[in-house]
Amino acid sequence: MEDITKVIIPAAGQGTRFLPFTKAIPKEMLPLIEKPALQRIIEEGIQSEIRNYIIITARGKNSIEDHFDADPILESFLKEHQKESLVSCIDKIIKLAEFTYVRQQEPLGLGHAVWLARHCIQKEYFGIMLPDDIIISKQPALDQLIRIARQERASVIAVQEVPMDCVSSYGIISVKKQLTPHLFQVGSVVEKPSQKNAPSNLAIIGRYVLSNKIFSSLEQMKNYSVGELQLTDGIGHMIQNNEKVFAYKIQGVRYDVGTPIGWIKAVISLALQHPQYQASIKRYISELGTIDSALYNQSKNIEHSL
Ligand code: UTP
Repeated sequence: MEDITKVIIPAAGQGTRFLPFTKAIPKEMLPLIEKPALQRIIEEGIQSEIRNYIIITARGKNSIEDHFDADPILESFLKEHQKESLVSCIDKIIKLAEFTYVRQQEPLGLGHAVWLARHCIQKEYFGIMLPDDIIISKQPALDQLIRIARQERASVIAVQEVPMDCVSSYGIISVKKQLTPHLFQVGSVVEKPSQKNAPSNLAIIGRYVLSNKIFSSLEQMKNYSVGELQLTDGIGHMIQNNEKVFAYKIQGVRYDVGTPIGWIKAVISLALQHPQYQASIKRYISELGTIDSALYNQSKNIEHSL
């Protein structure tokens, strides 16, 4: 298999689960400590040796392009004040990575967003990373999939076990064959099944390595779809056409930062691992005691509790 060098990042969704924040600011730019969520996704990609990013954007999402662009005025200001280190992590990305932006004019679904990037991909395998899914792991989640794709010479999608009462929020796979405790050959995929109809509790999460055959599958499914075109429709079509698709249980912890509660949990977990904030956030949590003490604590001046 040729090297996997490109990743598509669909970021054109409306983010209704995070309104009203997402009215004017893309959810991909939500801060996870000092970095926007999308920057963490690109960092995972870079750690997985990916240099080419095709980002699907939409109206109102220009801040994404601005973030991954050089800013000579800011750079010279920081240089003058010896504060270049504040942007060194993003500078590194700008130097290493290449970005291509494709606009989705209407939110016609994740499958449609991926299909729009068909001109950027040749006869090669490529990655897809959904910026809502932040995965904290030893080995980068995308890299885990790339290794399996190379080993099996086939498409691989990331899955995670979810409680049965949550299956209706995910695309769920049926298992054709289990190869190892973490690796499965996929029999079929069902988008958001009821608990009764779910073939397993293995839910598809936001990392994929796919064959370019997905584009002709999406193209064909586009003619049948009413409303949104789902990526799972395309994957299902590929399987029916005898394309092997594997599912790999990702080793790591995943946060859905597309919802306020998932974002809050991600921020707390990242703070607890952050060298600069770890100690003070641990102390803060242990001192919380009761909810009331977080709302008002006479003994503390708010400035000193930071
Ligand atoms: P979601 O299902 O999270 O939809 O999309 P959303 O619109 O972003 O958010 P909610 O559900 O309204 O809160 C999964 C991924 O697919 C992208 C999103 O940006 C997200 O990364 N997407 C979805 C598109 O790029 N275009 C679409 O038309 C739909």
